[in-house]
Amino acid sequence: MSEVLATSGWEARKGAFQQALLRWFWRERRDLPWRGVGDPYATWVSEIMLQQTQVVTVIDYFQRWMARFPDVASLAAAREEEVLEQWSGLGYYRRARFLHRAAKVIVDEHGGELPSTLEGLRELPGIGPYTAGAIASIAYGIAAPIVDGNVIRVFSRLFAISGDPRSSANQKTFWALAEALVDPRKPGDFNEALMELGARVCTPRSPACLLCPVREYCAGFASGEPEALPEVARRSAVKPMRALTVVVYRQRAGKREVLVGPREAGGLLAGLLEFPTVEREGKRWPRLDEVAQIVGIEELGEEVGEITHVFSHRRLQTRIYAAEIDASVHIAGDRWRWVPERELGQAAISALTRKIYERWTQPEPV
Ligand code: ADE
Ligand code: SF4
Repeated sequence: MSEVLATSGWEARKGAFQQALLRWFWRERRDLPWRGVGDPYATWVSEIMLQQTQVVTVIDYFQRWMARFPDVASLAAAREEEVLEQWSGLGYYRRARFLHRAAKVIVDEHGGELPSTLEGLRELPGIGPYTAGAIASIAYGIAAPIVDGNVIRVFSRLFAISGDPRSSANQKTFWALAEALVDPRKPGDFNEALMELGARVCTPRSPACLLCPVREYCAGFASGEPEALPEVARRSAVKPMRALTVVVYRQRAGKREVLVGPREAGGLLAGLLEFPTVEREGKRWPRLDEVAQIVGIEELGEEVGEITHVFSHRRLQTRIYAAEIDASVHIAGDRWRWVPERELGQAAISALTRKIYERWTQPEPV
């Protein structure tokens, strides 16, 4: 199975290692709203949210999500915009779209129940080896392995694994270790314990080895320099982008309305509502008339300010204009619609659009 285990006398110590880790977990685990629920759907939702978002942030989103979409059927029946609205602010919106699509598949093809095998789970849109392993082990008690960033860090140190942790050779090793070590009596707890250890004890910069339940098994601790592992791969470059946005607004029946439309399908943040925007790669600013053109207005009004937003390996600088127009002015294109300003907070907008809105309504003092 795993060469790392075979060559270092680990097979004989595996049982004691599992016990030490599990006992620590049962004593120290945080009481999180998705734990101990016994609902595969809840496990699925929480694990998708946790993939790129911190536990403290996920808690609220998870509870609101479960109140709004308590089961697969209610999620499948929802409109995409409602789904994105619930996700609004969590980032990486593809995750929400995948949840929605998979919920429909589960209703159409699996009678509304999540598949209960690794293979069945893997066939669903947006479910990869990590999520399938998490649902299988946590919700169904299957001895399936999982590897995430926390597990990679813990294993790199426990077994002193050097080299780029993303290399295919190292990825193979991590998965083989996870499979060899997972405790078939308590696979879900074991997997959560590994992640919890990585999140709370075996942390990136200063692992708390003196509090670690598996210190005596750890090659990294023995070396005296566990924080040197895993090796940091060089980060891929962050691409610069520039955008011009215009907040077009009008007064109607004494209330202010703003013009928004969905972002293009297939691109970044696809489907989320945004203000009319022209955006491009590189450091050259779009021209003012390009933005004016997409809504068919003549003037962009006043410049409100500039913001910087960093996401998905991009650093986007946006210049913001605001233009008040008369309620009788015709807007070009069927992409745009008017939304009362006070409903914007609940609409499916990205963190970027929220930032733009805030800069418009609460401009920084000059
Ligand atoms: N990170 C992602 N999923 C987790 C879980 N189930 N427990 C602890 N940390 C996690
Ligand atoms: Fe991580 Fe230290 Fe525990 Fe090793 S002993 S697993 S480096 S916290």
